[in-house]
Amino acid sequence: MNSRNALPLLATRQPARHPAPTVKAQRLAHLIFERPDPDEAARFLSDFGLTVSHREADTLYLRAAAPSPYCYRIHRAAQARFLGFGLEVRSLDDLKRLARLSGASSIEEIVHPGGGKQVRLLDPSGFRVEAIYGQTPSEPLPHRPALLLNLAEHPRINSTQRPPVAPPEVLRLGHVVMEVAEYQATCAWYTRHLGFIPSDVQVLPDGSPIVAFMRLDLGDAPADHHTLAIAQGFMASYSHSAYELVDADAVGMGQRVMRERGWHHAWGIGRHILGSQIFDYWQDPWGDKHEHYCDGDLFTAVLPTGVHFVSPEAMAQWGPRMPKSFTKPKLSLANLRKLIRNLRRSPDLTLRKLVTLMRMFG
Ligand SMILES: [Fe+2]
Repeated sequence: MNSRNALPLLATRQPARHPAPTVKAQRLAHLIFERPDPDEAARFLSDFGLTVSHREADTLYLRAAAPSPYCYRIHRAAQARFLGFGLEVRSLDDLKRLARLSGASSIEEIVHPGGGKQVRLLDPSGFRVEAIYGQTPSEPLPHRPALLLNLAEHPRINSTQRPPVAPPEVLRLGHVVMEVAEYQATCAWYTRHLGFIPSDVQVLPDGSPIVAFMRLDLGDAPADHHTLAIAQGFMASYSHSAYELVDADAVGMGQRVMRERGWHHAWGIGRHILGSQIFDYWQDPWGDKHEHYCDGDLFTAVLPTGVHFVSPEAMAQWGPRMPKSFTKPKLSLANLRKLIRNLRRSPDLTLRKLVTLMRMFG
């Protein structure tokens, strides 16, 4: 059941685009992490293909080839934690509109590389969103061009394929995926205030939504199938972030280099269904997943939302089956307390839903 709008008659409320959002975010600018050992994080991310761009006493910045001055910010802290992310908006007026939302900061000068102005927000699940405007871009970094492939046309004559055996150059930060307990309120906050459009929603057999893949509303300009995805979990947590590479050989070479350097593989290589990316997932030293990908779908604002049943088989067109470890929550006493609290508090979280998900994904 993977055709678009395959389940039009479902009665359950699905995440939907808002007719007049507060602003329309334009770009995923950066992610924000806390790490007890920023240098160890940088070692993983450098092997993964990012480049350290700025370094301060307790803050480390990494970038991709794209002209964004940084796309990954690490603050030294006692515990490893994902704090949130930055979204670029279109104007100072957009920042003024966001500054009027409940819990928003006033408009502030940005102290990070590239400068500009920002408004800090908290989403209903407690993730930080830094809405930024006026950041000064950096010079793009060079990267190898996509390989010339001898497919139907055979354009490569008297020449071989020898991509360098080195960490694959990351072109840009692509998307971030989070799990939340307050699923509907969190999805609705991003569609209402930041203009996200659900590209595809995955649902349980009873129709209740479990994952929303959401894209930016860039009008007629194409946007990644998803820049943000929100999954129903039992607590707010980071699922993974994804980074675009130049071609499938870069994804494959990334796997070779990451393996040889001893990093922990999570899942891949395969091709997703929703978003169509060729993917490969790696875990950082704290078990947080980072995805290499290429060849993702691009949609303009006109495409309607698709609805599909969720299952492990619905995650990839080909490639190894998604391992059970991929979706296994980190079990601890603190997390168990959060589970019990969220089962009581969240209107979206029920024991039945959790059992269905656990049966489905092991
Ligand atoms: Fe992804």
